[in-house]
Amino acid sequence: MDKKEKELPVLRIGKHQPKYPIVQGGMGVMISGPKLAGAVAAEGGIGTLASVGLGVLTEGYNARNFAERNSMMLKKYIKQAKDIAMGGVLAVNCMCALCDYESLVRSSCEAGADIIVSGAGLPLKLPELTEGFPDVALVPIVSSVKAANIIISRWKKHYDRCPDGIVVETPNTAGGHLGARDIPQVSDPALSLRNVVPALVDYLKENLLDIPVIAAGGIWDSHDMDGAFSMGAKGVQLGTRFAATEEGDASDRFKQSYLDSREEDVVLINSPCGLPGRAINSPMVKRYLAGLQERMPCRTPCLTHCICRIKHETFCIADALVNAYRGDWENGLFFCGSNVPKVSSIMKVKELMNELLEGFKLPDLTLPSAS
Ligand SMILES: Cc1cc2nc3c(=O)[nH]c(=O)nc-3n(C[C@H](O)[C@H](O)[C@H](O)COP(=O)(O)O)c2cc1C
Repeated sequence: MDKKEKELPVLRIGKHQPKYPIVQGGMGVMISGPKLAGAVAAEGGIGTLASVGLGVLTEGYNARNFAERNSMMLKKYIKQAKDIAMGGVLAVNCMCALCDYESLVRSSCEAGADIIVSGAGLPLKLPELTEGFPDVALVPIVSSVKAANIIISRWKKHYDRCPDGIVVETPNTAGGHLGARDIPQVSDPALSLRNVVPALVDYLKENLLDIPVIAAGGIWDSHDMDGAFSMGAKGVQLGTRFAATEEGDASDRFKQSYLDSREEDVVLINSPCGLPGRAINSPMVKRYLAGLQERMPCRTPCLTHCICRIKHETFCIADALVNAYRGDWENGLFFCGSNVPKVSSIMKVKELMNELLEGFKLPDLTLPSAS
């Protein structure tokens, strides 16, 4: 960025305001656990714990006890993350596509999450599920203005409430499951941040809604952040870069797969939940894409819609993601954003935050604004 320092926007989400408008996106299973989320929050960003499938790591996890185990572990990890965060802002990512979504949302509120971030489907009932917790801010993830409009209209009509923030995550570049109907739509430029962020900011202005927009997908450095802020975003969300930090909860082998990846290793796959996803072409992914993946038993009904559970096709996403977290290169599904080949070292969260903030200064909130 140019020499003159630019002012960072203020990101206020409900009652919560981090020092810096940088959000570490939720990454499951256990890629953003308590260590990472706590460290980001402690460094002045928003740290996000991924709530998906945390009970998988407990002994005797099965179809009968999975929801209870997931909630139990989530509460434990929220406590750990809060201890590390030292008063920083902590979010929990809850995916609508999960069978135990409602229980995860309630557990997050009960355990003291500041913000619930919710995507992988439209979180149409989120205000109802968080009733009784007025301090918990609610942030849907969308990939289009249309989706944001549906959520806002529904929440206004049924709950007389608006989202406290909206994450726009572009499938063009983001990691994990992508908000696109199919693989061809993933690259649709209509779903780029350049198209959706300004359109959503305009839509919110036209409707007199003061809701901060957070841009996610493909954000690598301060230059990309500046680009997002110029489009009207009040914050940015990064996944891939935070996954590859020292505090990242995944195994060293997971992080090594990021260090080793080249552009040609990043592929798109159809996940068992029916959404496309971006991942590293690991041996497991290669077998799947070649039609050689073995039929797998379904151990727990984790997703509301799962082709592995219904038709015994594709693969078990819970097992594949846990394998990646543990560092099983042969059998893991290593989700990543499209800029993963740029990862060349494992930084500390503090170093990464400092690098991202280069060329920016905090807004002087003591001065009256010019407008
Ligand atoms: C390994 C990995 C796992 C992810 N898991 C989730 C998840 O569980 N829930 C979710 O809403 N987003 C998930 N995401 C998306 C991130 O939260 C974030 O929005 C996205 O990675 C931003 O794009 P970037 O990786 O290019 O920075 C995941 C991303 C990665 C890389």
